[in-house]
Amino acid sequence: MSCADAEAHLKLLAVKPAYRRRGVGRRLMGWLEDSALVAGTPMIYLELRANNKCALAFYEKLGYRKTGVVPGYYSGHESAIRMGRDLWA
Ligand SMILES: CC(C)(COP(=O)(O)OP(=O)(O)OC[C@H]1O[C@@H](n2cnc3c(N)ncnc32)[C@H](O)[C@@H]1OP(=O)(O)O)[C@@H](O)C(=O)NCCC(=O)NCCS
Repeated sequence: MSCADAEAHLKLLAVKPAYRRRGVGRRLMGWLEDSALVAGTPMIYLELRANNKCALAFYEKLGYRKTGVVPGYYSGHESAIRMGRDLWA
């Protein structure tokens, strides 16, 4: 995740398959969100592949909401769903 003045951009998040559904992703996101708050950038946004239903369910569970679709985001072929969360809201 990178933090700019107004917002933070989560670029990559993955948990090894053998360790999924044990709360690791939730804890990693909590750590990243705390870091963004310390940096003074309460708005976090991210993209995920449009067909990634697991990630969509994960981020929705953590309070992220869809803000749009970005056609061709992945190598010009695959669309992304953009999501965001305002940590101050
Ligand atoms: C998305 C990912 C990071 C989640 O990590 P994780 O450690 O498995 O997530 P957690 O165990 O913290 O899950 C927290 C909650 O999110 C939801 N969730 C997580 N994975 C889910 C799935 N596959 N299907 C439905 N809901 C899911 C659940 O509500 C879960 O709580 P619960 O297990 O008590 O029901 C992991 O699946 C992953 O690495 N996927 C491949 C890479 C990827 O897609 N990254 C994100 C796109 S950038």
